[in-house]
This record gives sequence, C-alpha cells and structure tokens, in this order.
Amino acid sequence: MELIVKENAEEIGQAVGELFCKAIEKKPNIVLGLATGASPIPTYRYIAHACEAGRISLRDVRTYNLDEYVDLPRNDKNSYYTFMHRELFDHTDIREENVHFLNGNAPDPQAECAAYDRALEHAQVDLQLLGVGRNGHIGFNEPSNVFTKGSFKVQLTESTLEANSKYFDENPMPHYALTMGIGSIMKARKIVMIATGEKKADAMKAMICGEVSPLCPASILQFHHNVVVYMDKAAAKYV
Ligand code: GLP
Repeated sequence: MELIVKENAEEIGQAVGELFCKAIEKKPNIVLGLATGASPIPTYRYIAHACEAGRISLRDVRTYNLDEYVDLPRNDKNSYYTFMHRELFDHTDIREENVHFLNGNAPDPQAECAAYDRALEHAQVDLQLLGVGRNGHIGFNEPSNVFTKGSFKVQLTESTLEANSKYFDENPMPHYALTMGIGSIMKARKIVMIATGEKKADAMKAMICGEVSPLCPASILQFHHNVVVYMDKAAAKYV
C-alpha cells in the first residue's frame, strides 16, 4: 500500500485528478470505478476542467459506480446518479450509455446485483476510486463478520446514517443501499483511495495498521497489490 500525505483536500484533488487524466490519456477507453461523497469532489472538478479545456476526452471512457441508495428516485438530488452527473459527467463529453449504476429502484434487487456483477466481470475495472466511511466502509460495505463477494443490498449502519443524513433535508435518508461487494472492488487493476479530515483518522489507522478484518472492510486493501492512499494531515494523524 502506497501512502501519500498532502496538505489538504485541494492538493489531493489535484494529485488524484492528474493521475486520472494521465490514465485517460494513456488509455482513452479506460474502465473507471467511481465513488461518491465529499472526498472525490475536488478530483472530479480537476477532471472536468481538463475535459472542458480540451486536454482529455471521456468519449470512450466507461464508468461503474460503487453504490446507490434503495428506493430513492433516480433524479432525487441526493441519488448518486444525480451526484455523478452534477459533479462530473455533465461537464464532460462522456456518453450516457457508458455510464453504469446499480439501480436502487429495481423491482428485484438480487437480479439487479447479479446483472451488475456480470457487467463488471466483463468490463474489468482498470482504475477504482474509493472514499472511506468513518467506520472503515468502502462503497457501502459496512463492518460485518464476513467480507462480501458480489453486489448486494445492505442495511446502512447508524454511523453511516449519521454521517450522510446531513444531505437529506426534505426526504428522510434511505436506510438501505445496493453496493458493489468487496470481492468486486478488489478485482480492479489499480485502486486509489482518498481520505480527508480528522473524522477519518481512526479508519485510516485500522485500515493501514490494523489486522485485515471485515470489521474494518477497508483493511482488505492491504491484500491488493496496487493501492495508493491519499490522505490529508488530519486523516493521517494516527498512521
Ligand atoms: C458514502 C459512500 C462511500 C463514501 C463515503 C464517505 O457512504 N457510499 O462510497 O466513501 O460516503 O463519504 P465522504 O467522502 O463524504 O466522507
């Protein structure tokens, strides 16, 4: 695991944004695994600017997002579908048919997850971007007794509900989500994680210095051969 500590979130956005731009320049039809949350926003801004400036094109890029809330309309302002369009896709030339999400409104979530896993298997993610929850979750793989394999429907924990409910001022926050499993995340050729702020410091310590355990799902990254973790000083304080 390569660890890189930067001064602040903006610097991380520049570094990770540049890493993504170079990867897209090198392989224009790259398959990206993408994350939501506050952490990747500066990175998405950097990529969007590079695209608007004509430096890179996302025309042939394909994307697979990690997760989506269950029973939240796709166009709700808090859906991850809306988030990705607002923060990245709408500022680029990506083609809508190349953008993939788990459908949290699917009538049969199990079938939806199985279909997503087949698509992921076929596509093979080149570069996976990850944030991390305060409790060490990745995607929406919450701490539990087992590492999950494929995509599944998950009940969100109190820690996650507390962290994310600030965005839900009108409708209540969903308590369930569909998420890619740990096994699928680990299949990405390269993984880049972003963690910023003191609230992530305990998770960073457990992920980097602790035992590999599903009680800290992100700790599985110790077993991946190509992971870079970008932290600001506050998140890196116990590492
Ligand atoms: C959500 C997402 C995760 C993300 C996490 C951290 O729970 N499902 O993919 O990593 O939030 O979010 P933030 O970056 O806002 O702290």
